[in-house]
Amino acid sequence: MRNLLQGNLPSTILLDKMLIAHITDSHIEVPEPADAGRIADFERVVADINQLEEKPDLVIHTGDITHCDRKDEYRLARTMLDRLHMPWHAIPGNKDRRANMSEMLGQSSPLSQSSPLSQSSPLSQSSPLSGFIQQMIDTPDWQLILLDTLSDTSNKGAFCDQRRQWLETILAASQKPVALFMHHPSFEMADNPYPFQFEDRQQAEAFEALIAPFSRIKGIFCGHAHRNTIGAVGIIPGMTLTAMSLDRRKGAYPLVMVGKPVYQLIRFNGDGGFDCQLKVCD
Ligand SMILES: [Fe+2]
Repeated sequence: MRNLLQGNLPSTILLDKMLIAHITDSHIEVPEPADAGRIADFERVVADINQLEEKPDLVIHTGDITHCDRKDEYRLARTMLDRLHMPWHAIPGNKDRRANMSEMLGQSSPLSQSSPLSQSSPLSQSSPLSGFIQQMIDTPDWQLILLDTLSDTSNKGAFCDQRRQWLETILAASQKPVALFMHHPSFEMADNPYPFQFEDRQQAEAFEALIAPFSRIKGIFCGHAHRNTIGAVGIIPGMTLTAMSLDRRKGAYPLVMVGKPVYQLIRFNGDGGFDCQLKVCD
């Protein structure tokens, strides 16, 4: 399934390229429920990414890493993430909690520290004042912004004043094209019986009001829905990627996906365009 979603500046000239593997909703649970198979699904995804002919530059996990926020679950997830042959980054989903995730997982791999795609800036760190797990990854041609949408009071998405101020600062710091990664979609999802997954309309509208004027924000990449859906914030395309764990997958999907975990490859081009490919594990 190619071109699930394309950026609004499709590439016509091949410039510098960056390949990101987007994975989400692993829901690792210890002890694992009978027949859940989530650990095996995670292992298949990691192995499939590692055997790609063209290695992704980064892997981004958009949350629900664990199912119960247990330290053993993060430890197991970290073991699998660290098998990746490239740097990885993670943001929390509603099943994760920041304290245990920070302690057990951090938000990135040791590889990230030396990655030329992960050059650290003061803005790239999670904020110790707010405690949010979010960061900006400044690459040669793009800003990748990993936004924490975790709510302390519900399983839905949140966007508070602190996060608004952080995102405003990040966006003001560069003129590069931007890709946003977040667990909860702020937009209405097509073909979903639960199309709106933010806590309230005001927070989603505050998010939209902030990002809508930035035409250089090219796409919003989310998890949470456990199905592949599309939407938009203004003219900015948004999408949700289905869960990598087969037993958590929802909705209809092509026959080729039956019994096989999936992830997404996103190619960011040097001219501000991108394209996506849903990758079914071999
Ligand atoms: Fe989930």
